[in-house]
This record gives sequence, C-alpha cells and structure tokens, in this order.
Amino acid sequence: MADTSTILCRNATLVDTDELVRIIHEYAELGIMLPRSAAMIAAAIDTFVVAEVDGRLVGCGSLCKLGQNLVEIRSLGISADYKRLGIGRKMVEKLTEQAKSLGIPKIMALTYQVGFFEKIGFDVVSKEIFQEKVWKDCVNCKKQHCCDEIAVLKRLD
Ligand SMILES: CC(C)(COP(=O)(O)OP(=O)(O)OC[C@H]1O[C@@H](n2cnc3c(N)ncnc32)[C@H](O)[C@@H]1OP(=O)(O)O)[C@@H](O)C(=O)NCCC(=O)NCCS
Repeated sequence: MADTSTILCRNATLVDTDELVRIIHEYAELGIMLPRSAAMIAAAIDTFVVAEVDGRLVGCGSLCKLGQNLVEIRSLGISADYKRLGIGRKMVEKLTEQAKSLGIPKIMALTYQVGFFEKIGFDVVSKEIFQEKVWKDCVNCKKQHCCDEIAVLKRLD
C-alpha cells in the first residue's frame, strides 16, 4: 500500500518537466489524455500543479484559461499505484484555489471520469454551453463530430 502520509501538493517547476511527460504519456497512450511534449509542458509550466509522495512525483494537473469567466482542468492524472488515495481531489482543490484567486467563477473539465468529478462537487452539463472551448480547441479536434467525453462544471461564486 502506498504511503501517502507525506503528500505534498505544489506548483510545478521546470525541474518537473520530464516527470510530467512520463505521467501524461502513460495516459495519452491509453487515449484518455492529450499527449504533451516536454516543450509544450515547459512553455506552460506555470499552469501545472503536482503531487509528490516521498519525493516521487505521482500526480499532476493544469489549468487553462478559456476566457474571463472560465478555466478548464487539463492533464489531470494520478500514477496507477497512487489512485483512490485522495490525491486527485487535492490536485483539483489546488487548481480551484488558483481559479478563485484569479477571480474566475467557473471551472470545467471534459472527462471520462464523471463519478470522480461528481464526488468532488462538479455537475454534468452540456458541452455546447462552452462556446469558449468549442472555438478554441474543439474546432481543431479530430473527434469534434464524435466526441464522447462528458463536460463537468463547478461554479466557484
Ligand atoms: C480520475 C483520477 C484523477 C482520480 O484521482 P484519484 O486520486 O484516484 O481520486 P481521489 O482518490 O482523490 O478520489 C476522490 C473521490 O472520488 C472517488 N473516485 C475516484 N475515482 C472515481 C471514479 N472513477 N468513479 C467514481 N468515484 C471515483 C473516490 O473514491 C473518492 O471518494 P471519497 O471521497 O468518498 O473517498 C485518477 O483516477 C486518474 O488519474 N485517472 C486517469 C486519468 C484521467 O482520467 N484523468 C481525468 C482527465 S479530466
């Protein structure tokens, strides 16, 4: 059993880039996360948070601003051996605090893990309400006409 007594959630730094690539690649291979190169991650390192247990990086997530009023959770992943230990919840809480500190009232995600997001206070909503997302990302996505991800939203105001 993983020892999570020393879970540390913190903002990522450039030193974490390779480990972030490793975690994201693990899930991108399974088709449940978009792949991110080291260069892409490094360029957006300020948007990432990480979870560390005993000095090992075991989780990550990032926040993407989609407009004045909306942020999206991206690249949220916990290493297989460390799932269901409360780390995903902590990652989302940290990202939520960041959204709040930016004064942004809505946080959303596109996901296959609806049960997890409902457990932590998100509601399932129609994807179509996110015009910011549709125009920024979905128009360039191969799956735009057959997207099977579910949209979830939490209001922070
Ligand atoms: C989804 C994911 C981030 C959850 O992280 P986690 O650390 O395992 O989740 P937590 O332990 O913090 O779970 C918080 C709560 O949600 C529940 N939960 C977790 N995963 C769940 C799931 N798939 N279905 C239903 N409930 C779930 C937990 O039991 C816990 O409930 P509790 O508070 O009553 O004990 C993790 O499973 C993961 O990395 N999945 C693969 C990548 C992925 O799909 N990311 C989402 C992209 S948007």
